[in-house]
Amino acid sequence: MKILVLNGPNLNLLGQREPSVYGTGSLDEINNRILVLAGELGVEVTCRQSNNEGDLIDLIHRAAVEVDAVIFNPGAFTHYSYALRDAIEAIGIPTVEVHLSNIYAREDFRRHSVIAPVVAGQISGLGAAGYLLALRAVVELAPCWRKRHCKYD
Ligand code: DQA
Repeated sequence: MKILVLNGPNLNLLGQREPSVYGTGSLDEINNRILVLAGELGVEVTCRQSNNEGDLIDLIHRAAVEVDAVIFNPGAFTHYSYALRDAIEAIGIPTVEVHLSNIYAREDFRRHSVIAPVVAGQISGLGAAGYLLALRAVVELAPCWRKRHCKYD
């Protein structure tokens, strides 16, 4: 099984960026923890980050043909990118949305995710552990996903 872990804008600054909100670990450290768990679970994980909406859309399109599931922290795009929402809706593989912080306990504009209605599920507020839980979740979900969602096949 192949899984894409995708991080959006400003998440390359983890560790330096508001550590009281996002923790002190860098994105490389988080990705290494994900790769260790992937090894234990026997799945292949690729980690990517981009600050550009179009690049994230291209990566999601490619994921549809290259991987079995996506774990996605869209950063601030969470709150307004209908283009990313449409990209996720268009691909037939499960996506789990992850946020390091609890977006429901923060500013008003962060409390709404335009991505949430089109993902398999969302994990918010559990820090780096959220990515690890998402990995365990997609390993469970991906094998039966197409069957569950293509009821006319
Ligand atoms: C975030 C929450 C977003 O509101 C914010 O813009 C981010 C990070 C999180 O992981 O908690 O960049 O997605």
